[in-house]
Amino acid sequence: MRSLSLSIAVLGLTVLAQLTFEVSAADTISYIGAVAEYYPVTNGTNGTTIATANANNYVTIIKTAWGYNADILVFPEDSLTTGMTYSDTNRTLYPSFGSVVPDAGLDIPCDNASTVVIEALKLISCAAKQYSIYVVVNVIEKENCTSTGTTSRPCPSDGYFFYNTNVVFNRTGGIVSRYRKFNLFAEPGINVTSSPENVTFTTDFNVTFGLIICNDILYKTPALSLVDDHNVTDIIFPARWFSELPYLTSIQTQSAWSYANNVNLLASGYNNPTTSNGGSGIHAGTSGKLVTLLSESAKNALLVARVPKVIDGVRSNVVSTTYPLTYEFSSTEITTLANITTVSQNAFYQDTLAPYATSVLPLTNGTTTTWLELCDRELCCSFYVNRTFSASSVNSSVNYYRYRTAVFNGVRSFAGTTTAGIQTCSVIACTNDTLASCGLRFNATETVVQPTVFNSVFVSGNFSKNSTTMQMPNSLTTDILPLNASDFTYNRVNISGSSLTNITYNLTIQSSNLYTFAIYGRNFSADELAVSSANVASSAVQLLRFSFTTSVFLAVIETLFVRSYL
Ligand SMILES: *[C@@H]1O[C@H](CO)[C@@H](O)[C@H](O)[C@H]1NC(C)=O
Ligand SMILES: *[C@@H]1O[C@H](CO)[C@@H](O)[C@H](O)[C@H]1NC(C)=O
Ligand SMILES: *[C@@H]1O[C@H](CO)[C@@H](O)[C@H](O)[C@H]1NC(C)=O
Ligand SMILES: *[C@@H]1O[C@H](CO)[C@@H](O)[C@H](O)[C@H]1NC(C)=O
Ligand SMILES: *[C@@H]1O[C@H](CO)[C@@H](O)[C@H](O)[C@H]1NC(C)=O
Ligand SMILES: *[C@@H]1O[C@H](CO)[C@@H](O)[C@H](O)[C@H]1NC(C)=O
Ligand SMILES: *[C@@H]1O[C@H](CO)[C@@H](O)[C@H](O)[C@H]1NC(C)=O
Ligand SMILES: *[C@@H]1O[C@H](CO)[C@@H](O)[C@H](O)[C@H]1NC(C)=O
Ligand SMILES: *[C@@H]1O[C@H](CO)[C@@H](O)[C@H](O)[C@H]1NC(C)=O
Ligand SMILES: *[C@@H]1O[C@H](CO)[C@@H](O)[C@H](O)[C@H]1NC(C)=O
Ligand SMILES: *[C@@H]1O[C@H](CO)[C@@H](O)[C@H](O)[C@H]1NC(C)=O
Ligand SMILES: *[C@@H]1O[C@H](CO)[C@@H](O)[C@H](O)[C@H]1NC(C)=O
Repeated sequence: MRSLSLSIAVLGLTVLAQLTFEVSAADTISYIGAVAEYYPVTNGTNGTTIATANANNYVTIIKTAWGYNADILVFPEDSLTTGMTYSDTNRTLYPSFGSVVPDAGLDIPCDNASTVVIEALKLISCAAKQYSIYVVVNVIEKENCTSTGTTSRPCPSDGYFFYNTNVVFNRTGGIVSRYRKFNLFAEPGINVTSSPENVTFTTDFNVTFGLIICNDILYKTPALSLVDDHNVTDIIFPARWFSELPYLTSIQTQSAWSYANNVNLLASGYNNPTTSNGGSGIHAGTSGKLVTLLSESAKNALLVARVPKVIDGVRSNVVSTTYPLTYEFSSTEITTLANITTVSQNAFYQDTLAPYATSVLPLTNGTTTTWLELCDRELCCSFYVNRTFSASSVNSSVNYYRYRTAVFNGVRSFAGTTTAGIQTCSVIACTNDTLASCGLRFNATETVVQPTVFNSVFVSGNFSKNSTTMQMPNSLTTDILPLNASDFTYNRVNISGSSLTNITYNLTIQSSNLYTFAIYGRNFSADELAVSSANVASSAVQLLRFSFTTSVFLAVIETLFVRSYL
């Protein structure tokens, strides 16, 4: 740690008691990472006024992060230049909502009276400088393309390319990096670069970060290229995530991706539970989540963690008494939550599971073990599920989750605008006996009991090991948070002489509040194909299924496997 004494006169600070600010050095084994969960100002019709109002709130958050010695602070997607609905006809509004963003390395907006950036970015540049902290924000970028347009990539008639862009400020307020989102999610009127940019920047604390945005996390490029081809150990991830049960709620996805790729992930979420937006976290790969926030009510908060560096491929061991911590802003510090419509629960989306092959896990009183293989379109998964169901704790006045095994090897829709290949072997929760209830949850007002205790859950499948797929250990409890990394094992073993890798995902604790336990993956080669239906020809063939009490099961095992060797 290098200590930096900042003079009170220079900063004009009277409220913050802390006079010494610590900056992580290049040779330390960790740094202090921070992410904001932020509910933005969106009202009004003047984009400049909205962005400036949000920037003033960002400054409050930056100052708070400084108070916790943060080295780097990440803000969400779409929460600075915002308040306008993306549509092709609304593109006429984009110039007045967006900002020009200079190439990296050229501008310190705070020091430049003739900077081309909007007032909001100038305020953030000045705060990054004043508080000596790296700051990552996301904006609508407008690029004047009258001279950069080409025949193959013509400049639109309004004279601009618009991008969904991350901008990184260094500790002196300079723009040091810029990344333009490649995998858009229903953002009409926004452009993408002709190929995915692999954008990285290296900090004075000697960590090289890669930049992605929201939906990018579900795609191969640039996210997986940054990890696989550019030696990136830490990823910055601003998002306005639309959470969907049972596989793709915000923190669940962050945690699964960070673990599968074994990289640190700094995820910052746009907060608005009425539209299912929210969820921030700092994740440390296979070491698991460091700090997370997923709130059912609207929130403005700062999450801070001591993040272990990955040096020569090894994640450091870090012990801290100060971190992690979560600071929640009051409605006087940040006023965006005054006068908003409140909801008692996030309105999560629900995946369309009709084309999945599923099998109900029967509710038999006592301890039951189900061992089965279930297939969908040539993906076969093995399940071994030992659970104890307490029939006496359920009656007609209480609600409780039922469970199914679910397998899918097909194509789904994203936001009705694009399609994507999905492969999963999973155990999922349902609110009643129908498949249509899987991926729902009970209302906050209803009484819910948890009569099923999972003693062990083992899920396995053979997945393609080529570069057109990725798989992740995907878990969720009824609190809508992923399991701790110490609660499961996840292993991949290449099957020699084949193009397959066997993945096993094993729950190693007892759990009474499981919602999802899945090997969940993408099959990029099926992207853009037609959405799968549960058509008869390719429907699931259930090959093998045993559902026994433990004693019968053990007897069968002994008969089949043990006695035959005697
Ligand atoms: C910075 O990181 C690089 C790559 O991990 C390493 O080779 C170098 O020694 C580090 N520098 C310091 C000062 O620790
Ligand atoms: C947005 O709403 C806030 C709170 O009601 C108000 O103070 C502000 O003036 C409004 N902004 C615009 C541009 O209407
Ligand atoms: C928006 O507000 C800014 C700052 O108050 C002002 O300069 C600008 O003219 C306004 N823009 C529009 C389109 O009204
Ligand atoms: C254009 O944006 C405004 C403000 O967000 C919104 O009310 C309107 O519905 C949008 N128009 C279209 C066609 O999406
Ligand atoms: C910060 O960024 C500016 C502009 O990109 C650059 O000129 C300056 O050297 C950077 N400062 C440090 C300490 O790297
Ligand atoms: C774009 O830049 C050209 C000069 O390169 C300038 O003539 C034009 O006015 C600019 N357009 C906009 C919309 O700023
Ligand atoms: C940029 O976006 C506009 C609006 O969607 C579209 O008409 C235009 O073709 C895009 N241009 C490029 C080069 O992507
Ligand atoms: C980023 O990396 C990927 C894979 O390494 C490559 O396909 C892509 O072209 C790169 N993007 C650019 C702009 O170079
Ligand atoms: C990644 O690291 C390897 C091994 O240290 C090195 O050979 C390679 O050049 C690095 N690649 C990049 C893009 O930095
Ligand atoms: C919220 O509404 C109350 C009552 O209408 C009003 O007094 C207050 O100024 C409003 N606050 C904000 C921030 O808009
Ligand atoms: C369920 O099993 C428990 C313990 O095995 C037993 O005490 C209870 O009576 C059983 N309940 C029913 C409804 O069968
Ligand atoms: C199921 O789990 C229970 C509780 O851990 C254990 O006693 C029992 O032996 C297990 N049954 C099987 C078949 O593994």
